[in-house]
Amino acid sequence: MSKSYRLAILGATGAVGTELLELLESRNFPIADLKLLASERSAGRSLRFKGENIPVEPVSDRAFENVDIVLASAGGSTSKAWAAVAVAKGAVVIDNSSAFRMNPEVPLIVPEVNPLAAANHQGIIANPNCTTILMTVAVWPLHKVKPVQRIVASTYQSASGAGARAMAEVKAQTSAILQGQPPVAKVLPYPLAFNLFPHNSPLNDLGYCEEEMKMVNETRKIFGTQQIRITATCIRVPVLRAHSEAINLEFETPFSAEEAREILNSSPGVKLVEDWKTNHFPMPIEATGKDEVLVGRIRQDISHPCGLELWLCGDQIRKGAALNAIQIAELLVEKNLLQPSKAYVSS
Ligand SMILES: NC(=O)c1ccc[n+]([C@@H]2O[C@H](COP(=O)([O-])OP(=O)(O)OC[C@H]3O[C@@H](n4cnc5c(N)ncnc54)[C@H](OP(=O)(O)O)[C@@H]3O)[C@@H](O)[C@H]2O)c1
Repeated sequence: MSKSYRLAILGATGAVGTELLELLESRNFPIADLKLLASERSAGRSLRFKGENIPVEPVSDRAFENVDIVLASAGGSTSKAWAAVAVAKGAVVIDNSSAFRMNPEVPLIVPEVNPLAAANHQGIIANPNCTTILMTVAVWPLHKVKPVQRIVASTYQSASGAGARAMAEVKAQTSAILQGQPPVAKVLPYPLAFNLFPHNSPLNDLGYCEEEMKMVNETRKIFGTQQIRITATCIRVPVLRAHSEAINLEFETPFSAEEAREILNSSPGVKLVEDWKTNHFPMPIEATGKDEVLVGRIRQDISHPCGLELWLCGDQIRKGAALNAIQIAELLVEKNLLQPSKAYVSS
């Protein structure tokens, strides 16, 4: 006898929602029933899952009845509107948006880093920001050996980070430019094809954008310490999928590149990609569709005796969103952290 669970994906038609469906199928998550929810715009659509066409329903109160796990991926305002409804009806919500991440009562989980925090959930678990997930998977194994004092992160973020419509927009801009036409920007604030610009999330009084502050605040929450000094510069680049990050780490005592390489080589969720002879290091096209965060170019920082440099690429729709959410769901199931009475038993 095996347990299977009643799932709902809120935002099933989006970039992350589509990936959630693909991963639930390929990882063979035990599903008794699957509801696909989106906005009224998707009425009449259906999506393929395990060879079947499943209709997409507009989100409503009733949609959360008889659901064990909601994978929410429809933006912060939609999560704020519906997460409490789903929890009141007995579901656990794993939320991809930023709506609840810094709420002290909501665990913020990267399963390779702080899985134990999941035990404290009160119905909602937050999936961290994509750039934060990728960075924490690579930095945590080093931090465990020698606490990191300061992190300087520079990101190179793909169009897909802004959703399915942003990906389509960059493709259309690229083809317009190649045909001598002006690129049209409607989803992103400026043309991204053959261009780049600082992340366009709102700026605070110190000149940091929201995306940068997510890296600062969420990393501290996930690592369970406010002591790490973190600064970030987030840039959108004309890459279709997978984010890249240059990470500079400062420790109290020297951390040799060799030791870091050895640690990362056996760290969960990390794959070392380093061929110094051919100059082959992580690239977004090689990270696309991969579960692991690709890490390479690990080297001593020549400007600081206790500094270390590394470069990483990760599929932010996958490990930065959908995969991380499903790993959290798997953790809840494995550790029996869902309401037992809600689990649907099938033979
Ligand atoms: N893309 C990434 O790399 C990434 C990474 C980490 C986290 N996230 C977060 O994940 C969430 C989804 O991102 P995405 O990139 O998948 O966006 P997306 O491609 O734009 O998809 C948005 C999804 O939300 C649905 N939706 C929008 N408004 C809704 C409403 N009022 N009621 C019900 N459903 C609604 C859309 O349905 P319709 O098709 O019907 O409009 C669609 O299914 C966001 O919170 C985002 O910040 C994204």
